[in-house]
Amino acid sequence: MTVLELRDVNAYYGNSHILFDLAMDVEENDVVTLLGRNGAGKTTTLRAITGTVPRREGHIAYRGEEITDTAVERISRRGVKLVPEERRVFPTLTVLENVQLAHELAADPRDVEETFELFPVLDDLRGNLGRNLSGGEQQMLSVARALVQNPDLLLLDEPTEGLAPVIVDDLREVLGDVVARDVTVLMTEQNVEFALDLGERAYIIDTGSNVWNGSVEELRDREDLLEEYLSVGTGET
Ligand SMILES: Nc1ncnc2c1ncn2[C@@H]1O[C@H](COP(=O)(O)OP(=O)(O)O)[C@@H](O)[C@H]1O
Ligand SMILES: [Mg+2]
Repeated sequence: MTVLELRDVNAYYGNSHILFDLAMDVEENDVVTLLGRNGAGKTTTLRAITGTVPRREGHIAYRGEEITDTAVERISRRGVKLVPEERRVFPTLTVLENVQLAHELAADPRDVEETFELFPVLDDLRGNLGRNLSGGEQQMLSVARALVQNPDLLLLDEPTEGLAPVIVDDLREVLGDVVARDVTVLMTEQNVEFALDLGERAYIIDTGSNVWNGSVEELRDREDLLEEYLSVGTGET
């Protein structure tokens, strides 16, 4: 079953035309990674899906239903959850309260305790205030807040950005568990290693246009693509 289908998607900020006839398919239980260098249009693509870009055109279908003109809240209620680049945790609430609040706001949430089982790091920090968490812990909490809402489609915008390598390993483990629990994931990344490890299929975009898509196995061997569109060196310099 196709969870998400984008066809001829264009997006704009005022007079700036950012996405050009973008196409993408996300199948049930897929982990799809959207790759591209800084400014390629990755965040804008996620905003087009969630309806938070000022103007979008084309066709976006979620589980077969056209959502191109659907309001943000309605898309969210249908189970599409975005963990944005700027991590959103409530600074004056504890870790537990942050998760509980997200739980209360969801129509069909996952059990709070079950959610904490997925995040051993957070389990030890239940009483800590959001503002006292490290960047990595805040990222974990952002993902936990999305997951407790039991999303059907989880959108992650550069989840590893700014995280120390050891935290990236933790996050990979958590997301691996999440993925095993029947959640469909579309994430953007600039960390190619992370994307190749966790993802199954990848799309590369550049200046708002599709450049390539295929399996991550194929992409591993495409140093030409990695170098041209992702600024990843081959180690031969
Ligand atoms: N709010 C905005 N207003 C105007 N231009 C924007 C805005 N947000 C992003 N852009 C522009 O849109 C392009 C794509 O940005 P973005 O989707 O954030 O890229 P990425 O997430 O791949 O780094 C960039 O040229 C960026 O400068
Ligand atoms: Mg971005």
